[in-house]
Amino acid sequence: MMFDPNAPVEVVTLRDERKSEADAIGRLIVEAFAGEPQGGQFERRIVDALRADGALSVSLVAERDGRIIGHVAYSPVSIGGEPAGTQQWYGLAPLAVRPDCQRQSIGAGLVRTGLDALHRLGARGCVVLGDPAYYTRFGFAPSGDIMFPGVPPEYFLALSFDESVPRPAGDVRYHDVFYPA
Ligand SMILES: CC(C)(COP(=O)(O)OP(=O)(O)OC[C@H]1O[C@@H](n2cnc3c(N)ncnc32)[C@H](O)[C@@H]1OP(=O)(O)O)[C@@H](O)C(=O)NCCC(=O)NCCS
Repeated sequence: MMFDPNAPVEVVTLRDERKSEADAIGRLIVEAFAGEPQGGQFERRIVDALRADGALSVSLVAERDGRIIGHVAYSPVSIGGEPAGTQQWYGLAPLAVRPDCQRQSIGAGLVRTGLDALHRLGARGCVVLGDPAYYTRFGFAPSGDIMFPGVPPEYFLALSFDESVPRPAGDVRYHDVFYPA
């Protein structure tokens, strides 16, 4: 195939969210989680509430052609009853890529870029509740020291940036917004 110098180049940019983008991010999350019981509204509310509470530590978007096609959020977690954030551990959730843009490594780019951003913030590690077939590729692995109550251990994964285990270890609790009354 001949190289066409005038052909449009579809570049995906990964960057921090902007203040004006809350609605666009919310709409994207609803599209990505449309198949979930609450049609993505639960995940959308989580991100909005984290932002409102100043707990959206890292919020990255993937942008192509001026449209937001992916998003990932990271927020502080509490481990072993310590106040959230004091151990510098974070939770990855939610992660969303627009359905027609999936399987193009956009999710992977968001996860990896987000982990780099956490590292720069001084994070010690990150946890995720999700499919091990997806998240183990980023270095997440089941941990005997950090647990999430009520979930089979193979679905709760941890990644320590410095090989250390948080002290105290134990059960993980996400921000309150993850536990609707
Ligand atoms: C999960 C999600 C973010 C992945 O985004 P993506 O940009 O398609 O992911 P990537 O292109 O980086 O990776 C695609 C790979 O992940 C795999 N994959 C995608 N979703 C997966 C899942 N839920 N479980 C296991 N593997 C998954 C694909 O099979 C593909 O594998 P392959 O490379 O071996 O073919 C996207 O599918 C999505 O938004 N899903 C709906 C929302 C959701 O479930 N979010 C995750 C829970 S918070």
